[in-house]
Amino acid sequence: MELLSPRLKTALTMLAKCNCLADIGSDHGYLITSAVLSGLAKRGIAVEINELPYAQTTKTINQNQLSSLIDVRLGDGLSPIHKGEIDALCIAGMGGGTITGILERGVDQLASVTQLVLQPNVDAAQLRAHLLKYYVITDERLVADGDFIYQVIKAQPGQEACPYTKVELEYGRINIAQQSDLLKNVLCRDIAHWEKILDQIGSNHAERRKEISAWITQLKEVFA
Ligand SMILES: C[S@@+](CC[C@H](N)C(=O)[O-])C[C@H]1O[C@@H](n2cnc3c(N)ncnc32)[C@H](O)[C@@H]1O
Repeated sequence: MELLSPRLKTALTMLAKCNCLADIGSDHGYLITSAVLSGLAKRGIAVEINELPYAQTTKTINQNQLSSLIDVRLGDGLSPIHKGEIDALCIAGMGGGTITGILERGVDQLASVTQLVLQPNVDAAQLRAHLLKYYVITDERLVADGDFIYQVIKAQPGQEACPYTKVELEYGRINIAQQSDLLKNVLCRDIAHWEKILDQIGSNHAERRKEISAWITQLKEVFA
């Protein structure tokens, strides 16, 4: 059974084999089910904060006869997980700010985690800035799914030697090094967005206009 969208398939592709994967915000339960079915994760813990997706995750896991290998827990972020229980973490389909909040509140549970695969729908720069305090970003992908291009980020414990620029925080150092067509699409879209805003801002906001013009220049330089 093909459970996964291109977005979630990409997230799983970036995950190395693990003993126990936690999927926070499991919703339908497809990611954790596929991870255990494929043997990528020996066991799993799905966490949901809402009753309806909690029930949906439970249903998917039962349909695939995986209830002995995957626990489903109701709660906020990493709080239903015990210290030392997991060695891998996926959080997909939420804003970068929400993912950052879950990581900040789950420091104890993260101590045993050797790989995090995160897919922020928005605010990737905020998430990267948080990650770089504790982790090295070891893999990044852009994936087209429906009308959107999503960022997927893999982080592992460590300390990045060279600080990220603002553009790298936004789009990813690895993504920028790869110079893909998807990155070009994202940048063209964002440049058009900022140029439109620049058109709308009156000449009495000189400082803001200067900031936006400088940002547009930086975006154009990514492909220079
Ligand atoms: C948009 S869905 C994404 C589902 C799935 N991860 C995916 O990428 O397709 C977000 C899910 O996260 C759950 N969620 C949001 N905040 C959460 C939190 N703090 N802890 C656990 N689950 C959360 C929501 O109930 C919802 O089911």
